[in-house]
Amino acid sequence: MLKVEMADALNDQIREELFSAHLYLSMSAYFESIGLKGFANWMMIQYREETEHAMRIYHYLVSQGARVRLQAIKEPQSDWASPLEVFQATLKHEEHITDCINKLVDIAEELKDRATNNFLQWFIDEQVEEEENARQIINRLKLVDDNKNGLFMLDKELGQRQFVSEMNNNNN
Ligand code: FEO
Repeated sequence: MLKVEMADALNDQIREELFSAHLYLSMSAYFESIGLKGFANWMMIQYREETEHAMRIYHYLVSQGARVRLQAIKEPQSDWASPLEVFQATLKHEEHITDCINKLVDIAEELKDRATNNFLQWFIDEQVEEEENARQIINRLKLVDDNKNGLFMLDKELGQRQFVSEMNNNNN
């Protein structure tokens, strides 16, 4: 059984993950609006991954006999000045999520909640990957600069990203 403080913090994190999904769906829509279908695809997959992150916590709370209490999701930004600005915003957002996960681990440690600490380790690893992905695309966009051909090539490459669920079917 989870302590109330831990369950509340995990419910807050469901809100953070669902907001992340919302933000990336908004970014996907922005890319559609400027004709960058590959970038839109990359962000759509990001949206689906974030939904899974929320569901991972949802199922954990249920498995621990704790209540899931959904919270309001705020409206995400919908316009950006350039693809580079979108990915800079993505990196900043992922750094914020990393802070959130670290704080959850701090709470689990304070409460000596080993099960939750263990559960959160997947998110620790995931955040390293999330930040790295955003940083790599920022670097590529800086290299491309204003070169339309380079942007087209990158769009084609990001269009190949496919969604791979990291949850087993019982949890989906
Ligand atoms: Fe669920 Fe991108 O952090």
